[in-house]
Amino acid sequence: MSSILPIGIFDSGIGGLTVANAIRKILPNEQIIYFGDTAHMPYGDKSPEAIKFYSLKIAKFLLDKNCKLILIACNTASAHAYHELVHFLGDRVPIVNVIDPVVNAVISKGKYKKIGVIATKSTIRSDIYAKKFKIIDPDIEVSSLATPLLAPMIEEGFFNNNISKTVINSYLTSSKLKKIDCLILACTHYPLIKPEISSFYGGKVDIINTAEIVAEDLKESLTRLGLLNDGPAKRHQFFVSDYTPSFVKSTRLFFEEKIHLAYKPIWD
Ligand code: DGL
Repeated sequence: MSSILPIGIFDSGIGGLTVANAIRKILPNEQIIYFGDTAHMPYGDKSPEAIKFYSLKIAKFLLDKNCKLILIACNTASAHAYHELVHFLGDRVPIVNVIDPVVNAVISKGKYKKIGVIATKSTIRSDIYAKKFKIIDPDIEVSSLATPLLAPMIEEGFFNNNISKTVINSYLTSSKLKKIDCLILACTHYPLIKPEISSFYGGKVDIINTAEIVAEDLKESLTRLGLLNDGPAKRHQFFVSDYTPSFVKSTRLFFEEKIHLAYKPIWD
């Protein structure tokens, strides 16, 4: 496997661009091939079977693009499709998810007793965070809350305004999130509302930004596997399974620069 090959990243839509953005900042030599399954977004409302089906098709696409590693930049797909993809890819290409690095990073801080998790309905239904924390440290209490309005709200550009403040505050005042000492933003859309969440807690709760943790972890994995590219990066490529001008507009918010989105239906 050559280190100059691209990294394949996928998400249900454009939320995973927050992870891609964190990656390009700390790994400027890496070429990214991104696939956003905008035709089937939100995954948060889909069944595990549907999420596995879409994820397998996307992994095949990224494999055909000769990616040296695949990153599932979506909590919902990480929760439901990671094991299928590990099985499907075998030893052809390493695959990483966005959940394990975050659980490990939070545990390594060694200071949290009650951890809050906010995510899509499907991620919360899987109970994946509570299960993973329990395996490593059974004394940690995990309290999870589905926050299904947040991803579509952010995608529509509603943040840093009165509407987003009302929605965010109404979720965060849930009794499930009482007395937490840290909150995991377990959806790749949520980094965009981190300032509003931090302001709600006024510094009393640590807010865990998963995009940066995942990017650091990816750097370690590439180094360990001898796959870190030390030459100049080739141009990133971005594909979506449904194309609308509003996706193009939103990508700027998530990736912090204008990108070209190519329409790529891959379901035949
Ligand atoms: N990006 C997805 C995640 O991280 C959430 C959006 C969706 O429901 O598709 O879970």
